[in-house]
Amino acid sequence: MLELESIKSGYGESMVIRDIDLKVKDKQVVCVMGRNGVGKTTLLKTIIGILHANKGKVVYNDKDLTKRRPSYRARQGIGYVPQGREIFPKLTVYENLLIGLEAGGSKQINEDVYTYFPIIKEFKKRNGGDLSGGQQQQLAIARALVSNPSFLLLDEPTEGIQPNIVQEIQDVIIDIKKNGQTSMILVEQDLEFVKNVADYVYVIDHGSIVYESAVDQLNDKAVYRYLSV
Ligand SMILES: Nc1ncnc2c1ncn2[C@@H]1O[C@H](COP(=O)(O)OP(=O)(O)O)[C@@H](O)[C@H]1O
Ligand SMILES: [Mg+2]
Repeated sequence: MLELESIKSGYGESMVIRDIDLKVKDKQVVCVMGRNGVGKTTLLKTIIGILHANKGKVVYNDKDLTKRRPSYRARQGIGYVPQGREIFPKLTVYENLLIGLEAGGSKQINEDVYTYFPIIKEFKKRNGGDLSGGQQQQLAIARALVSNPSFLLLDEPTEGIQPNIVQEIQDVIIDIKKNGQTSMILVEQDLEFVKNVADYVYVIDHGSIVYESAVDQLNDKAVYRYLSV
């Protein structure tokens, strides 16, 4: 289980995350929604440790990670798919995967990634930068999955991606969920996508949770109210 307790976080003097409590139980997929600029990416960076919380706690499986480095958190099984993919364009697809493997502290590639994304196997020797945007997103997800994380953070994986690849990504998330080894936080703006994959939803506004609900009791109107500009 991942627990965020009264998290405050931001950049220098500017507090972006004001006071967030959030819980992800084992095997759950939790979606974080909210308008642009409300702090979703900042929250994920605080979980992965690129940013350090100014206050509060990040606890994973009863271990306090709050003061730990990103490398330590990754080795605890927390994988990260950053917004905008951030693959290494001059490295091959395979070399990109090896970086994920090392970050997660694993020795052997989880071969499931080739089943999830056959294109990754087919394009193993191509440079990451030569893939389409959607394929790069698949690579970014595969890079996080090669070390078999117990927890996966995905930051807007469908942003700007063509519909057929969005569908593939959705299928993979559902498959991972079925396999039951990995919990997830997914930042996502598309409510239909969220309903297809998530168990629980949090909506953030101005750095705080303004709405939360189990997916089967979700009030669409409440969500749209916070998402509309
Ligand atoms: N590196 C940074 N330095 C200073 N401010 C930042 C930085 N990154 C993001 N911000 C600010 O933090 C706020 C939240 O950004 P972000 O977490 O990226 O929002 P979201 O992911 O919800 O769109 C925004 O006002 C943004 O301008
Ligand atoms: Mg963001």
